[in-house]
Amino acid sequence: MNKSLRKPLIVGNWKMNKTPHECVELLDELIPMVAEVDRTDIIVCVPYVDLCAAVEKTRGTNIKVGAQNVHSAPKGSFTGEISAEMLLEIGAKSVIVGHSERRTYFGETNETVNLRARAALDAGLKTIICVGETLAERDADTTEEVVGFQTKIALQSVSAEQMANVVIAYEPVWAIGTGRNATTAQAQEVCAKIRSIIRKIYGEYISEHTNILYGGSMNAANCADLLNEPDIDGGLIGGASLKPVDFTVIVKAADDVN
Ligand code: PGA
Repeated sequence: MNKSLRKPLIVGNWKMNKTPHECVELLDELIPMVAEVDRTDIIVCVPYVDLCAAVEKTRGTNIKVGAQNVHSAPKGSFTGEISAEMLLEIGAKSVIVGHSERRTYFGETNETVNLRARAALDAGLKTIICVGETLAERDADTTEEVVGFQTKIALQSVSAEQMANVVIAYEPVWAIGTGRNATTAQAQEVCAKIRSIIRKIYGEYISEHTNILYGGSMNAANCADLLNEPDIDGGLIGGASLKPVDFTVIVKAADDVN
C-alpha cells in the first residue's frame, strides 16, 4: 500500500448554510489562508444558490467548487432538482452524492444514490459518494456489512475509467455533527474495508488510486491523527468548514501528511 499514490483531498460541506453574500465573505477569508497549499486538493460544496458566487470568487485560486446533490435525469419534470449539466455549465466541478442527511431526511436509497452518482460521473463531475453506518448498526456489529453493501450498490455500473472521478467518503452517521468522531482505529478499519471492496471490483491499481475520505466531526484538533492513517486520504468536513481558521488547520494537516 502506498499512500503517496493519492493526492490528499479536503472537502468542505457547507450544508444549508451561508447566503451568496455570506459565501463570498467566508471565501474572502479562506482564500488567502490556504493560498500556499499545493499538495492537497480543496473543494467547497456550497448550497446551489451560492454556486455562481463561489465559482466566480475562487477563479484562479486553489479552491474548487462543488454542489451537495444532483439529480439522475438530464432534464425533465423533477421540481426542485438540478441536473449534472446545469452544474457543469455554471462551473461546479464536483458533487456530493448520498450524504446521510439526504438518505435520512429526503428518502435517498442505495439505488437512488447509484443513479445520481452515475449521472454525475457520466457528465464528468468528480463524485463524492457518502457511505456510513448508524449507531444501531455499529452496535449490532454490522458496520462492515452495511458500509460494504452501500459501497457496492453505489458503484454498480460505474466503469473502471469513471473511477478516476470517484471519491468515497466514509461518514459514520453517529459522528456527523455530534462532536463525537470515530477513533482513528475505527475510521481506518472501515476505510481499509472500502478500499478492499474497490480492489475486488476494479483491481489493485484503481483501489490504490481512489481517494477515501473520513467525515464526521473532523476538526482542527483531531484531524492530524485521522489524516495520518494509511487508508484515510482526506476529510469531508461539515461544521469546521464554516470556520476558515479551523478549515485551514485541517487543509494544512492534510498537506503535511507524508
Ligand atoms: P460534521 O459533518 O463535520 O459537522 O460532522 C460532516 C458531514 O456531514 O459531511
